[in-house]
Amino acid sequence: MGSKFNYAVLMNTTFNVPKHKLIGHRGVAGLRPENTYCSFVYASELDLDWIEFDTLLTLDEKWVVMHDDTVDRTTNGYGLVRDMTLQELEKLEAGLWFLPPYPGQKIPTLAGTLDMARQLNLFCNIEIKGADHTPEHHALLITQFLLDHSEVDLSKIMLSSFTLPCLIKIRELMPLIQIGYLIEEFAANTITIAQLYNFSCINCNVKKMTSENLAAATAARIPVFLYTINEPVIAKFWLSKGIAGIFTDRADLLLI
Ligand code: G3P
Ligand code: CA
Repeated sequence: MGSKFNYAVLMNTTFNVPKHKLIGHRGVAGLRPENTYCSFVYASELDLDWIEFDTLLTLDEKWVVMHDDTVDRTTNGYGLVRDMTLQELEKLEAGLWFLPPYPGQKIPTLAGTLDMARQLNLFCNIEIKGADHTPEHHALLITQFLLDHSEVDLSKIMLSSFTLPCLIKIRELMPLIQIGYLIEEFAANTITIAQLYNFSCINCNVKKMTSENLAAATAARIPVFLYTINEPVIAKFWLSKGIAGIFTDRADLLLI
């Protein structure tokens, strides 16, 4: 990695507002097993054009789509994703835990998910998990991944993470890629940071959101997305206040 590559080629264009102002959270996590191919297909069937999903590195440094550090909750296996190889992870069932169960769903790879998204014409918010201890390494690997997958339309990708140093490194490597500044709640310097690193939007926990913070972001012309909203009343409230969009597990309930 490093000077050998021209990261500036990984550029992007304008931000695309999600259809219905909805982003399918982990696909449609309330209706299908989260972060699985069937969840992403169902998001598309519900007329969403944006999905969000989480990605983690395996022991052999492959990107897989999974929310938790361990496979315990959402598969029939046990253990940390970072302690397992892709080959080991691909043997697991990722939809049996759900009610009703979805047999045959494997843990998606990032490559497979982006391939499916391309076929379904979906925009993707890729949330990078597990980067706290090695933020720059994660940034280098996701950049390398996108460089290696030149078939991916970068105008349809937004990267995000709770690990700010990872986002800062990604911004250095990919000056124009869309980055969502993922936060639990606004701090005094949130807007300054978003401006400094040219982040595309701020993605905040709805439970910690305030009208004052939204007004400040709006004044700075930074779009705000809120996660995770599944109740129509709460969705309507924040949309009327001017948020850019909503991450939802239940797009079926929020579609008007
Ligand atoms: O990106 C919004 C949301 O997905 C962040 O929280 O825990 O669902 O990944 P979490
Ligand atoms: Ca997420």
